[in-house]
Amino acid sequence: MALREQWRSRWGFVLAAAGSAVGLGNLWGFAYRASEGGGAAFLLLYILIVLVVCLPVLVSEMVLGRSTGSSPLLAPVNAAGPRWSPMGWLFVIAPLGIGSYYAVLMGWTLDTLIHSIFFGLPSNLSEAETFFGSISSGSSVLLGQLISLLLTAIVVSAGVRGGIERLSRLGVPILFGLLLILALWAATLSGTWEGYRTFLLKLDASQFFNPSTIRNAFTQAFFSLSLGIGIMVAYSSYLDKKNQLPKEAVSVASIDTAVGLLAGMITFPIVMSFGLKEVISGSTVGTLFISLPTGLGTLGLTGRVVAILFFALAYIAAITSSISLLEVPVSSIMDRLGWGRSKAVFVSTGLLFVLGIPSALNLDVLGKMDSIFGGVLLILGGFLLSIFLGWVVPNRFDEDLAGCNSNHRVRRYLKFMLRWVSPPVIAFGLIVSVVDLFQNWSS
Ligand code: PHE
Repeated sequence: MALREQWRSRWGFVLAAAGSAVGLGNLWGFAYRASEGGGAAFLLLYILIVLVVCLPVLVSEMVLGRSTGSSPLLAPVNAAGPRWSPMGWLFVIAPLGIGSYYAVLMGWTLDTLIHSIFFGLPSNLSEAETFFGSISSGSSVLLGQLISLLLTAIVVSAGVRGGIERLSRLGVPILFGLLLILALWAATLSGTWEGYRTFLLKLDASQFFNPSTIRNAFTQAFFSLSLGIGIMVAYSSYLDKKNQLPKEAVSVASIDTAVGLLAGMITFPIVMSFGLKEVISGSTVGTLFISLPTGLGTLGLTGRVVAILFFALAYIAAITSSISLLEVPVSSIMDRLGWGRSKAVFVSTGLLFVLGIPSALNLDVLGKMDSIFGGVLLILGGFLLSIFLGWVVPNRFDEDLAGCNSNHRVRRYLKFMLRWVSPPVIAFGLIVSVVDLFQNWSS
């Protein structure tokens, strides 16, 4: 058997994991969910969930990957026997579901980028709406989806070091730099404070008890961290003993949260400064594709440059995430069927394209896929992971972390949180989310 690939360096792994975490979820998802009315309550809940629940689960996902050295499909079985194979299947099905519609969103982003470069921005709201209608339907949406999948496939077929690590090392720092520049620029707009205040800082305590706000915060935390569905298992299976996983988890979560906040500090001032609050309050997944270009369109050349930078960075962020989604089925097929990487990439990419066609052709399907695969399943996976490493194979957690010399107090703390805090809190989030989702669908 060929030796399993390994990351070239500690930072290679951290940047790849952060690259997976940072994506359209931070740029579109955060702004979209923050604008749904939760305000500061949403923001606080989201940060609290990341700190208290997601960090221990993130470490446990990394432990599962590194200690088994297996793909997400086989890791649970190799750790605790065949009874756990459904968890392995969940880890393959959920990334396939997300990957299918994620490529559609990438296609929209690419279309908007190309349009801003070659044709400029829409001059008013109705032009922007017409443009969004054209990119989100018909054959152009399938083309955008296909191109995005092909680019993803090229990177993944170049392997863990030569493809995934190389792109992440380049892409993540560029993306961070661009975001900082744009956030500074947005801070000079006239509606800046109004934007921050309206969407991020307004505290309405009753929102803490609003099921939709709770669901949004849980979904945003898990989706944005690519948590609960085996992505981090796949990436960590290429690690050696040197990495101190709690430290890596903190780095990944910090980068991810910082990017979400920075993105909000760009989008909300633009929305406020150009009087587009109404557009955004009727929020759908497509809102930012309409409101951002409209707002920036009134700024002439500066607006066009900002739009190009923003959509380019969004696309870079999206690719470093979609490669992680593809790596899960690819590594699972390689592991289970013994196929070579190229063949596994080819088949998985084809599958993602076909599975994504319904979302490409129907916005309603896309929204539903996002709620189930990008929401409920991740939270469910997070719950299973905390039970698995906290209760079923707790020794694995201790031994793996002791092996990399992580501080024993940190280890005790994480284990405590994983066993006693994460399961009930995530179970609560899961129940509230499922009930809220069905209520929304039936109303
Ligand atoms: N975290 C990525 C984002 O924020 C999306 C993603 C979710 C990737 C789940 C992998 C798994 O866009």
